[in-house]
Amino acid sequence: MAADKPSYYISTPIYYVNAKPHLGTAYCTVMADVQARFRRACGADVKFLTGMDEHGEKVAEAAEKNGFATPQDWCDSMEPAFRDLWETLEISNDDFIRTTQPRHVAGVQKFLKVLLDRGYIYKDAYDGWYCRPDETYFTETQVRHHEEARQAAGEAPADPEHPLCPDCDRPLERIKEESWFFKLSAFEQPLLDFYEAHPDFIQPETRRNEVLSFVKGGLKDLSISRSTFDWGVPFPFDEKHVAYVWVDALLNYITALGYGSDDESEFERRWPAQVHVVGKDIIRFHCVIWPALLMAAGLPLPEKVFVHGFLTVRNEQTGKVEKMSKSRGNAIAPEEVIDLLGVDAYRYYFMSDVIHGTDAPISWGRMRQVYNADLANSWGNLVSRALNMSAKYFDGCAPERPAGYEAATPLKAACEGVFDAYAEHMAAFNYQAACADVMGIVEAANLYIENSAPWALAKDPARADELALVIWNVLEAIRIAAELYDPFMPAISAEVRRRMSLAAVPTRDLKAACAWGGLAGGQPVEKGAALFPRLQD
Ligand code: MSP
Repeated sequence: MAADKPSYYISTPIYYVNAKPHLGTAYCTVMADVQARFRRACGADVKFLTGMDEHGEKVAEAAEKNGFATPQDWCDSMEPAFRDLWETLEISNDDFIRTTQPRHVAGVQKFLKVLLDRGYIYKDAYDGWYCRPDETYFTETQVRHHEEARQAAGEAPADPEHPLCPDCDRPLERIKEESWFFKLSAFEQPLLDFYEAHPDFIQPETRRNEVLSFVKGGLKDLSISRSTFDWGVPFPFDEKHVAYVWVDALLNYITALGYGSDDESEFERRWPAQVHVVGKDIIRFHCVIWPALLMAAGLPLPEKVFVHGFLTVRNEQTGKVEKMSKSRGNAIAPEEVIDLLGVDAYRYYFMSDVIHGTDAPISWGRMRQVYNADLANSWGNLVSRALNMSAKYFDGCAPERPAGYEAATPLKAACEGVFDAYAEHMAAFNYQAACADVMGIVEAANLYIENSAPWALAKDPARADELALVIWNVLEAIRIAAELYDPFMPAISAEVRRRMSLAAVPTRDLKAACAWGGLAGGQPVEKGAALFPRLQD
């Protein structure tokens, strides 16, 4: 661990164990992975966290339904599905937290004690609405507003005994039980002040506005314990109660750093997180409840919550566009897409073709289109042509860096300034624009080859210097593009570097690596097989 480098701490949500990961959950994980790789390439000391959310009534029920002796056995049986997929998708997480791990349980219990000591929790009777599938509580007003909106839209009135969930439209239950409450209502103004002082806390802007209006609508105290089942973290001072699954889950972001353990040095060094990447369905938890809990415990708040939209699919029967999810039965398994595109192109497609703040429809046709245009015809083709010509004209090697390499060429011009634009786009999770920045280099290189026709230069011994300059220019552009593509397509970039006899691992100083002139030349190069074989339509 290099203490002299800035810490960059990034997380994904921890995923529910009840469903295997699908394209939607993988989307969120790949998005965070690209950012983690980019930050490492810029020299940061990255901690990238993902994991599994294992407590709660639904998990206990699923364990029983699936014939497992204990909920823990059920969770253990699901772990490989996540770990294996993340490995396949080249997810570079530094840690994998499970909420049943002792380190997490200890941290949650410490946190609850802190809240009690600071006077932010109290015991009372809960009587209100609860959405079991979403594990979310709703106030009378929220439920009434939703019902009014439904009826105004011409929908049939819901059963008053089971009004519908404002988030997912499934029937709610009336819950009456003794519960511990968190004084969320005390944080309405502190939260509004915080959002104002930190305009970048919630991104994109539309999500920020959504949270602002929710908080301005008034916050009620939150029930944070359950006593009718026991699959959860017991309250250390009231063992009959287990922590509400969301409070338990949110704390993973600090327990993974050792909060509540004997050694909190990593927590002290890395907290607050630079960014939590989350989907739009869980922003209230991350942008309202989580910051309020941290304020109550006297801890600093994360720097940013980046909120992405959903991958959607069209329901053939109703014609409606729906969120892709396991419970709706419309989820595509990542393996299906990997079979078609391969892992790196899979990553590239979801990262470059989807705008990460809004919902995005997924289609097989579009996947093929992007793959063929960007990867097979542009990037893959450039690498093949260039390495082929270099090997052919320079005896299996790259030409030496020519004396005049600093002179202006169209390719040098195309590479200059790209790092700055790319880095800005990457930092803002605008991966579409960052990929377009790199594609600018790739297209300029393909055009440069056409315009300078190395095959013609090779026929004229008097123009050998010119030929060396052209090929060196193209290889230099490829070297830079491979570094910039590395966060998106790590295996392909590593393979490009291997074929060019360059460093096996990506750079740790991306800015310097993108400076023109880095390629010494003279080293062996290998054409190799097509990086992206063309797909038939
Ligand atoms: N366990 C909670 C998170 C706790 S974090 C302290 C949870 N788990 S989840 O498995 O249901 O969802 C995890 C993430 O996957 C969410 O950010 C959610 O938005 C994302 N996605 C689930 N389906 C998705 C799509 N169809 N598209 C994009 N992201 C999706 O919520």
